[in-house]
Amino acid sequence: MFESVSVSPRPSNRDLVLVGHFQGEAPDKRTRSLDASGELARAAKRADATGEPGRLVEVPGARKMLLVGLGKRESFNAGSLRTIAAAVARRLATTKDESLTVELAGPLVEAKVNAGAAGVAFGEGVGLVGWVCDQFRGSATPKKTRAPLALSSGDGPFRSGMARGLALAVSANLTRTLSETPPNIATPDYMAAQCEKMAKKAGLKCRVIRGAGLAKERLIGLINVGQASENKPCMVRLEYTPKKGRKGVKPVVIIGKTMTYDSGGLSLKINNGMRGMKRDKDGGCAVIGAMHAIATEIKPDRPVVALLAIAENSVSDNAYRPDDIITYRNGVTVEVTNTDAEGRLVLADALCWACELENPEFIIDLATLTGGVVTALGSTYCGMFCDDDGLREQVETAAAACDERVWRLPHHQEYNDMMKSTVADIVNSNPNRKAHPIQGAAFLSFFVKKGIPWCHLDIAGVHAVEGTTGPFQEGPTGWGVRLLANLLSAK
Ligand code: BES
Ligand code: MN
Ligand code: ZN
Repeated sequence: MFESVSVSPRPSNRDLVLVGHFQGEAPDKRTRSLDASGELARAAKRADATGEPGRLVEVPGARKMLLVGLGKRESFNAGSLRTIAAAVARRLATTKDESLTVELAGPLVEAKVNAGAAGVAFGEGVGLVGWVCDQFRGSATPKKTRAPLALSSGDGPFRSGMARGLALAVSANLTRTLSETPPNIATPDYMAAQCEKMAKKAGLKCRVIRGAGLAKERLIGLINVGQASENKPCMVRLEYTPKKGRKGVKPVVIIGKTMTYDSGGLSLKINNGMRGMKRDKDGGCAVIGAMHAIATEIKPDRPVVALLAIAENSVSDNAYRPDDIITYRNGVTVEVTNTDAEGRLVLADALCWACELENPEFIIDLATLTGGVVTALGSTYCGMFCDDDGLREQVETAAAACDERVWRLPHHQEYNDMMKSTVADIVNSNPNRKAHPIQGAAFLSFFVKKGIPWCHLDIAGVHAVEGTTGPFQEGPTGWGVRLLANLLSAK
């Protein structure tokens, strides 16, 4: 859409100016003062200037203006600007305007909305809607030329907010590009190489455990799930260390399910169930994007460790099978009842590792774990499991600020009991079809040490959307990057 988007420190008087008004209201006094000609007041009276969110009306005159609808004053908040900014950006991309000064101080004051938060949402909206992934287009698609876009504002806090929002969008867009990358290219080795590349650029430590290293570290889930594929499994550990860290601060650990392809294994996915399973790596992709944001933009004063459990769930005579029993490094034995419930098997390795070796303050895992959560919550809310009140509140606050919505699902001893095996400790899937997303969480809970706060996010419904929603189009959303960034910036 744009070649790049930047924030310039000073608005220029040649810029196109964006002003806004609420639905059913004329532009406020402060906004009107930006236009001496009276053209703005006239334009706002036009029938098409409805004020609905994202509605755009061009204001003629010596200084070109664009009047955008902000929706109803009562329902307007900083987050509304994410979608509104996306509508503005879509228009700029067609009119080929290369600079925009955003002057929304009037309505922001009227609605008592924080200018910094408004700027973040605006920057995110422009940055997210501008994502293009055309690297897989070939000679049969005409090349599109794109122009750079420069944003500015006379409002300082709004302007720095925009820069923050654009930076977070860059990290989320990295996640989306990885999600989009097909499974014949994005193999486990490729994902590890992408981690190394990002880590080097952003100044993070990166360690890849593969081959004999997996056996040495007893990462038995990865070994089993990944063994059928020619593309061998690995675990990546990324580490952010603060420059001026306080002493004795425990790290936050974030974990991502990174299944580069999920065929279901011997419990093969049927009909069209396999299509789209290149995105079964999106938990890990979100963790990569979040670590990028943490290293380049958030720079929290506490350490952060990321663990990516990376494998391809494939089929061969060497595949792990239903009926296999495997023993984890924490001593828990698992009877495999379904090789398509593979995500929890590799996440279990990372959870054991985090609890035993990282001394975490808390753990958050992101995984496209179950189809059941898509049935339950669609693409509107992510399924959240968190029995720790303090951590849950932090996650909910971080989620609300970026509109990556979470909805808590329950945990109960009876769900843990559903996972009991007749031969081993637990099964990886109960053969009846009850409470699938909760079964997944209940299974994972066997690998988290008591006393360590833990939050499981089942992102199977929210990691991608089917059509245009807010600043997204059909495809990956980078869900989780902004939530994790917010969570760590609040620290
Ligand atoms: N990766 C899938 C979950 C999934 C399904 C993500 C649809 C996105 C869209 C996961 O590994 C899986 O296959 N889950 C099974 C679990 C079952 C076998 C217990 C499912 O949800 O059907
Ligand atoms: Mn599966
Ligand atoms: Zn899967």
